[in-house]
Amino acid sequence: MSTVSTTGSKIIKRFWQQYISIYKLPILLTILLVIIVAGGSAVYPLLINWSYNTIDSGNIDNLYIIILIIPLVAFLKGVTNYLQINSANKISLNIVGNFQKDFFAKIIKSNIEIIDENGPANLISRINNDSNLIAQSLERVINSLFKDGLIVIVLIGTMFYLNWKLALITFISLPFVIIPIYKIGQKINKISKDSQIQLGFLTTILNQSFQNIQTIKSYQLEERETLNVNSEISQRINFMHRLFKMRYSILPIIEIIAGVSIAILIIYAGIQISNGTSTLGELTAFITALLMLSEPTRSLGTLNAIYQEGLAALSRQYKLYDDAFIINDVENAIQFNDISENIIFDNVSFKYSNSDRNILDNVNFNIKKNTRNYIIGESGSGKTTIFKLLLRLYEASDGKIFFDNSEISKYKLNSIRSNISSVFQNTLIFNDTLYNNINLDNQNININFESLMQDLNIDEFSNKLSKNFDTIIGVDGVSLSGGEMQRIAIARAIIKNSPILLLDEATNSLDSINELEINKTLDKYFEEKTVIIIAHKLSTIKNADNIIVLKDGKVMGEGTYKNLEKTNHYFNELINSSLIT
Ligand SMILES: Nc1ncnc2c1ncn2[C@@H]1O[C@H](COP(=O)(O)OP(=O)(O)OP(=O)(O)O)[C@@H](O)[C@H]1O
Ligand SMILES: [Mg+2]
Repeated sequence: MSTVSTTGSKIIKRFWQQYISIYKLPILLTILLVIIVAGGSAVYPLLINWSYNTIDSGNIDNLYIIILIIPLVAFLKGVTNYLQINSANKISLNIVGNFQKDFFAKIIKSNIEIIDENGPANLISRINNDSNLIAQSLERVINSLFKDGLIVIVLIGTMFYLNWKLALITFISLPFVIIPIYKIGQKINKISKDSQIQLGFLTTILNQSFQNIQTIKSYQLEERETLNVNSEISQRINFMHRLFKMRYSILPIIEIIAGVSIAILIIYAGIQISNGTSTLGELTAFITALLMLSEPTRSLGTLNAIYQEGLAALSRQYKLYDDAFIINDVENAIQFNDISENIIFDNVSFKYSNSDRNILDNVNFNIKKNTRNYIIGESGSGKTTIFKLLLRLYEASDGKIFFDNSEISKYKLNSIRSNISSVFQNTLIFNDTLYNNINLDNQNININFESLMQDLNIDEFSNKLSKNFDTIIGVDGVSLSGGEMQRIAIARAIIKNSPILLLDEATNSLDSINELEINKTLDKYFEEKTVIIIAHKLSTIKNADNIIVLKDGKVMGEGTYKNLEKTNHYFNELINSSLIT
């Protein structure tokens, strides 16, 4: 239990230093408003006592003052309360918003494994849901801990001021409330953790269902998906209800203890009034204070539960934040502009962090400047993985990759990525205009854009769009065909105009007429460049300068088509199978 609270306090300290402390001044102002609200609460019982005493003494004139004071206090308290709640809400939303922004900025810049390991849907749930829990909890801390806490203190003070003996009797039961509050808080922390893991599953399934809607419909899997989602939603209901039950289970305890206290209080007050040590005014004022105490006490009673949920969310988010790391350049990193001789894979092995299988196994090859190279191999043999290593999306687990005489880790990461153009198997279309999707970072295009669009037959489909190149495409706009998306990806790579080009089955969604034309376009734009292509077409690999044959992450051979055909058994197997056509 002690470790929970020490790591808890460490997390809070860190959150305070990074995010809360900037809002010190607004928080201080909010607390100032809190003091006014709490002070206002004390006034009511005192006014009641005063009214009784005034009526008792027969000095009715003073009642007019009281009648004026009460609405004034109510007005002040009401307005201050509103301002205070608003301000607490704004502060907590801003604090958590800043954390969300930093969190996303860190994850998007970090090692890609963090996304592989946690899954996109789960990360979305972290950013949205955990942040909500943190904001709610923060708001409750400001509102309950400060406001209700202060109101409770002020009211208890008033009760002691009115009649300290009665107050003592009333509060003797307090420890019986505090211990269960603490115990319930610990349980909630645990359930909240499990419930968030489950929410991750639910988000993943929902994400899968909507993303793969075509497959689901064509295989008529609607029922199965609905059952899966239903089961997760039922579990969610179960978790949420358990949390709710826990959170509010403190209320009956408070209620019962309050009831017993009131009963004892009435007996004792009766004795005091009958022997003349207390007045009816004092007792009424006292009970008013006690009744006013019930609302903030209840709120304080559930505060720990909500605080624990927020704390669990905060520690989850910080864990992810800390697990993610940004790959920094080594000291004196070299600027990469282009290779002057070659790219070398020297005994490179690689495994993804979420699997224990070597995907690349002692891979060796040599790619010379300004040559056209092909990587061929069965599906899953590790072809795309080679591209990912070249772009330093992942680091090799073993062995070295060289650009000329320096390992790629010695270069500035940015300079590598800006000098390698790549077309991957899946094209990401952004929710933006067709033009902005082609010219991704709005750079100055130093080739003839119109003729490129003609070469890639993009103008043909852009002419059919209502606003041509200004038409919004993507999630909220026009959907494109697989071939159209591929042509956009190729256009992006050509516009980037890098000396090294990686094409991963860049033309596999195109019909043969389009493919032929686009291959001609590639020849035209990539003549003086180092090109590595993953392809399955015999026609294209025939005039390659170099072919790398991959099988289960191992290089089975390297050379020209003619050489391999003569000497490499596996290459011939591939050619004879339907894999290379
Ligand atoms: N992010 C990842 N995490 C774990 N395993 C992965 C990941 N990406 C790929 N793999 C696995 O690594 C192996 C090689 O994948 P890779 O994408 O390099 O194959 P490929 O040769 O490009 O196949 P294809 O021709 O089907 O595109 C596959 O078995 C795949 O399941
Ligand atoms: Mg691939």
